[in-house]
Amino acid sequence: MATNDQLKALVKSHANGDDPQFYAVAMQVAAKAARTGQSKFAQDLRDLVDELRKRDTAPSRVASIVPVTQPRGELGSLLSVTYPSARVGDLVLSDELTARLQHVLLEQRQRDTLARYGLRPARRLLLIGPPGTGKTSTARVIAGELGLPLFAIRLDTIITKFMGETAAKLRLIFDALVETRGVYLFDEVDALAGDRAAANDVGEIRRVLNSFLQFLEEDASESVIIAATNHPQLLDNALFRRFDTVMDFELPDDEGLRLVIKNRLASFQIGNLSWPRVVAAARGLSHAEVATAAENAAKRAVLTGRTRILTDDVITALNERPRSNAHREQNA
Ligand SMILES: Nc1ncnc2c1ncn2[C@@H]1O[C@H](COP(=O)(O)OP(=O)(O)OP(=O)(O)O)[C@@H](O)[C@H]1O
Ligand SMILES: [Mg+2]
Repeated sequence: MATNDQLKALVKSHANGDDPQFYAVAMQVAAKAARTGQSKFAQDLRDLVDELRKRDTAPSRVASIVPVTQPRGELGSLLSVTYPSARVGDLVLSDELTARLQHVLLEQRQRDTLARYGLRPARRLLLIGPPGTGKTSTARVIAGELGLPLFAIRLDTIITKFMGETAAKLRLIFDALVETRGVYLFDEVDALAGDRAAANDVGEIRRVLNSFLQFLEEDASESVIIAATNHPQLLDNALFRRFDTVMDFELPDDEGLRLVIKNRLASFQIGNLSWPRVVAAARGLSHAEVATAAENAAKRAVLTGRTRILTDDVITALNERPRSNAHREQNA
């Protein structure tokens, strides 16, 4: 039988739309059943998972999840849409960031109330911080919590791909933002900023930045605009001023490290882990690196026939992860 933790992990991965995790846990349940002599059930479960995995990669399933608002034509090449089901509880953030996020969600949910007093909810957010600390995840959570589609725009791609007509492309995006309420994520906004621009056509990038600023300022849509960057030092002050909320993401503290690992290993036995040792080995890593390490530790255990994760499994996996540049720079 599945353990309570496995059941929880199943439900959670289902809610997150995390199919690989869902199937991985189902396979663990099957493995456990096989070990306790329920070989028929184990085989049935494995077959079922295999069949579903195949179906997942089949085109029919892809077609069914492509939403009706998938932008078409030219716009389709600038934006990609997803419907995240992520929730605030999936994120490991500092108390301050969580509070700020909750506040943005509250204002968005109460936007009709605010409107009655001529007030507008916070809707232009700037997310700053090192790689793998939850910026993109936060955009997914905001979309998930508000039940809105998430439209992702990669500015650097637009700039390199459409050099010379980027401003016109931006207008298309800002028009879409009025038409379809959603969360619009401009990732890597630093692509519009100083240093990087120098390598390109400076005049062109400057023009794009100016139109971006102008569109931001004029935007009166109901959409949420999120810009994210790893390189705030490259951002123009003019850009900062256009945002209602600036959220600073940081590498996880000790408690954050513990939570990321614990969440990732929810379906395994981790009762024996020495947290002080694990946390010490994880310091300096981003949430993303720690999550990957936890997963690698789990894989190693599974492949040696265990569901109990040992401290050394985790420490070995953590030591294999690269410390982020941002951390090195911070400590330089
Ligand atoms: N704060 C967090 N809490 C929980 N998990 C996290 C967090 N940050 C990152 N992760 C994990 O790492 C993965 C990558 O994180 P994400 O894409 O949000 O990072 P990012 O800050 O956008 O990084 P980048 O600057 O490289 O775009 C997530 O899918 C999640 O599994
Ligand atoms: Mg990101």
